[in-house]
Amino acid sequence: MSSRDRLREAFRAIHREDFLPPDQRGFAGQDRAIQIGYQQTNSQPTTVANMLALLEVEPGQRVLDVGCGSGWTTALLGTLVGPTGEVYGVELVPELVAWGQDNLAAYPMRWVSISQAAEDTLGIPERAPFDRILVSADARSLPDVLVEQLKVGGLMVIPVAGRMTVVRRTDGEPTVVHHGNYAFVPLIEPG
Ligand SMILES: C[S@@+](CC[C@H](N)C(=O)[O-])C[C@H]1O[C@@H](n2cnc3c(N)ncnc32)[C@H](O)[C@@H]1O
Repeated sequence: MSSRDRLREAFRAIHREDFLPPDQRGFAGQDRAIQIGYQQTNSQPTTVANMLALLEVEPGQRVLDVGCGSGWTTALLGTLVGPTGEVYGVELVPELVAWGQDNLAAYPMRWVSISQAAEDTLGIPERAPFDRILVSADARSLPDVLVEQLKVGGLMVIPVAGRMTVVRRTDGEPTVVHHGNYAFVPLIEPG
């Protein structure tokens, strides 16, 4: 199956309404970000689709999902990597961690988990390296600490100062390519 078909299949398998508060589920089909409480959002579907296409996720990969919120992107990534892969979602707001875990329980995937983000660092350095990192909140500048959690050759998709940014780790300086402007909630960065 082509990567485009696998992405389409993942969106078919994982229902957005299962990752929305009950009073917002009727809006699941609308192509816009939806409030999930705590001043956070479930991202706009076309934005999620664009980010996942840029991330080029393959079956069997280890993926970090920073700012997993409702758990929707985590579940989509879990479908894309399949049972031979691993997906680690991290979220800063404790109430969303618990809610995202409950939402994810509707799609049992033992290779996918959501946990509380550390307050003193971004990502999960102790679980690194990752093949792919998805960041669903806007960083002020490219966080080195996340680039360092990529394997050499690995990809990260992250909004940086409003610009969608694709980063590939190399043996030297990472390569950085921009892909248009997007509005995101801010990434809370330690320090
Ligand atoms: C756009 S929202 C949720 C997107 C999510 N992927 C979804 O579809 O529901 C971004 C999330 O990033 C979280 N966040 C912000 N800074 C973070 C950090 N340093 N570590 C982990 N999560 C963070 C916010 O609390 C928020 O829930």
